[in-house]
Amino acid sequence: MADRPFHVRPAAREDRSRLGEMAGRLVRLHYSFDPQRFLDLEDVEAGYGRWLMREATRERALVLVAERIDGALVGYLYGALEGVSWEDLRGPCGYLHDVWVEEDARHAGVATSLIEHACARLKERGAPRVVLMTASRNASAHALFRKLGFRDTMIEMTRELADAP
Ligand SMILES: CC(C)(COP(=O)(O)OP(=O)(O)OC[C@H]1O[C@@H](n2cnc3c(N)ncnc32)[C@H](O)[C@@H]1OP(=O)(O)O)[C@@H](O)C(=O)NCCC(=O)NCCS
Repeated sequence: MADRPFHVRPAAREDRSRLGEMAGRLVRLHYSFDPQRFLDLEDVEAGYGRWLMREATRERALVLVAERIDGALVGYLYGALEGVSWEDLRGPCGYLHDVWVEEDARHAGVATSLIEHACARLKERGAPRVVLMTASRNASAHALFRKLGFRDTMIEMTRELADAP
């Protein structure tokens, strides 16, 4: 919207290191939720930034950034068009993989804008629906996604075997 202090645009080559920083924070947040289930990746920033920039050039993928009026990036979203998944008993869809908003930019509609842009782009490209996974301990993300019309469809469960008899 015109009165918003940020806008959403496709990621560009010069965003790589900031994308990597934000993606690194997303990785560490998930590790903090459950260190056994989620990967503890050291120095993930450079590799993640490179990966996101590669994805940004793929026709089926979508990497969006939220840029403040002063040029600072305050959030990003990574999604893609996915085909049929027999494992998930799911038809073709748009998939949202990552959404991150920097802490000092939260509660201002940045994630909402990123997600609404992504849903519009994925719909234009033929996706009949958008699916995502969210960590069960991530209550703020659940509230966000529900507010934006997502319904609960799957619950992932994990059992450790290392200490099992
Ligand atoms: C979850 C997250 C993306 C929300 O970003 P945001 O830009 O603050 O979200 P918005 O301002 O668009 O919020 C929209 C709505 O979501 C809900 N919401 C967002 N953050 C919330 C929180 N901490 N607690 C409860 N509800 C929340 C509210 O309903 C909010 O509407 P309101 O502002 O009218 O109350 C952000 O907190 C974040 O980056 N968290 C860490 C990464 C993450 O969890 N990513 C999602 C899973 S991959």
